[in-house]
Amino acid sequence: MRQAGRYLWEILQVLQMAVRPEITTGELDALAAEEMKQRGVEPSFLGYHGYPAHICASVNDEIVHGIPGKRVLKEGDIIGIDCGVIYRGWQADSAVTVGVGVVSDEAKRLIEVTRASLEAGIGAARSGARLSDISHAIQQAIEPHGFSVVREYVGHGIGRAMHEEPQIPNFGPPGRGPVLRPGMAIALEPMVNVGEWKTRVAPDHWTVLTIDGKWSAHFEHTLTITDGEAEVLTRP
Ligand code: MF3
Ligand code: CO
Repeated sequence: MRQAGRYLWEILQVLQMAVRPEITTGELDALAAEEMKQRGVEPSFLGYHGYPAHICASVNDEIVHGIPGKRVLKEGDIIGIDCGVIYRGWQADSAVTVGVGVVSDEAKRLIEVTRASLEAGIGAARSGARLSDISHAIQQAIEPHGFSVVREYVGHGIGRAMHEEPQIPNFGPPGRGPVLRPGMAIALEPMVNVGEWKTRVAPDHWTVLTIDGKWSAHFEHTLTITDGEAEVLTRP
């Protein structure tokens, strides 16, 4: 899993650096496919419940699961890039949100708060803590900034399968759920909206959008619980 995570980090670095005005989300997907092939990793999203691509590319009011295609990125957009790979049977899952060229102050703040909320979740992911301590820490890092946290999509256990037990909400009271133990592997993935937390699914049956058309950001890391700080597998 460590090696899967390392490769995925590398791939996401390449994808982020490729983001610029005029590139299409489909071109980013093709780049992801190439980078995976070079490293001998398989895409975990492609074919998952029929999902048709290597990455999810979610732009502006798209929260998650945007399907890459002909959409052209414009200066000022924000794009969430979510990717999963399998190396020797082990999974890693990670996402980032980046601006396209110069973005608004509000978009910057949204991205920063979302990134920081993931860090707060990672900080709470310690042996002896309860699962919902993570959820609570994430929520606490979001709502004081006036943003909302998506309820209908959650983080998850991960290992040989991309989605394993337990589900990990990005909100809720602390002190509930299983006690965290060294060796557990989880993917934390806060989704944060400028407006209300409610979502809708596009007619393509995949793309999840905000209900009010306001923008949304998403970050994700795969990590393992240790005796001390969690070990984040999807960054060096
Ligand atoms: N990171 C997303 C998740 O954990 C990726 C799933 S998208 C799909 O749910 F394409 F694979 F369905
Ligand atoms: Co995930």
